[in-house]
Amino acid sequence: MKPKLRKFIDSNIPVIENDLIFQVEKVKGPSILKKSMLYSLNAGGKKIRPLLVLATLSTFKKDTKIGIEVASVIEMIHTYSLIHDDLPSMDNDDIRRGLPTNHKVFGESVSILAGNALNTLVFGILADLKHANPQQKIKIISLLSETAGVQGMLGGQLLDIESEEKRITVSELEEIHNNKTGQLLRFSIESGAILANATPQQVSLLRNYAKHIGLAFQIKDDILDIEGSTEELGKTAGKDIISLKNTYPSLLSLEGAKDKLHEHYRLALEALAQLDEDTILLSEIANYIVMRDK
Ligand code: IPE
Ligand code: IPE
Ligand code: MG
Ligand code: MG
Ligand code: MG
Repeated sequence: MKPKLRKFIDSNIPVIENDLIFQVEKVKGPSILKKSMLYSLNAGGKKIRPLLVLATLSTFKKDTKIGIEVASVIEMIHTYSLIHDDLPSMDNDDIRRGLPTNHKVFGESVSILAGNALNTLVFGILADLKHANPQQKIKIISLLSETAGVQGMLGGQLLDIESEEKRITVSELEEIHNNKTGQLLRFSIESGAILANATPQQVSLLRNYAKHIGLAFQIKDDILDIEGSTEELGKTAGKDIISLKNTYPSLLSLEGAKDKLHEHYRLALEALAQLDEDTILLSEIANYIVMRDK
């Protein structure tokens, strides 16, 4: 990992982790539900989405403190998507973030509700944001509804499941990846830009960056499913082939998938180069997405 990102991660991940615990612990409700939510939130994970919120703020020379709650929000939505993604009726996985999956520990009913609970908790957090004015809050809430919902992550998950065992084209696969994974990365970057009062032109350039790192992120995930080990990944390796998933390697071969990965990396950097700000941190995150081994 490049040095600027290493430093950024070391100083910001503990803050994000503390806020995640704080946000769940302050809610009143059945302790088993809170335990299940915290089990998955505390299981580690790379925290790439919350880091993107904070890195975007930092790109516009804003204090990362103003983005902590939004950073927690996107990590909660992402974690809920993983809890549900692992359910027997979805990808049916037993290991996540190096631990037994949520439903293996708490049972399906609790884990479905824990996912739903994370999804609803975030709207209260967003309504109470301390460092955003009403217009910014409304924009962020609307962006979350769009990127996590039917037009975004959920729609992508549906298409991913429905297309198992079917032949699809590369452009259909790109649509799935863009929705199931790209849209939450887009939220991370655009919510940071909203908090930083970025101009519409800056937002549009960042959206372009987000699109390419979103695709790169899922292409790399597909490659790691083949090249990584269960131990390294903290989730069962080789699952995509067994499940007859459509992935970049399955459609284009491993080499073809790697070419696509590097093409999206290059396009992400090209989008950043058009911004006047110092984008070194965002470019190091793009590099990390491509180079990571878990
Ligand atoms: C896994 O996401 C699911 C995808 C969208 C590919 P991450 O690779 O970000 O998982 P964690 O948060 O680090 O566990
Ligand atoms: C998951 O994609 C995307 C979301 C959870 C929205 P995958 O099914 O490929 O993620 P992993 O490989 O289980 O982490
Ligand atoms: Mg899946
Ligand atoms: Mg999965
Ligand atoms: Mg995967």
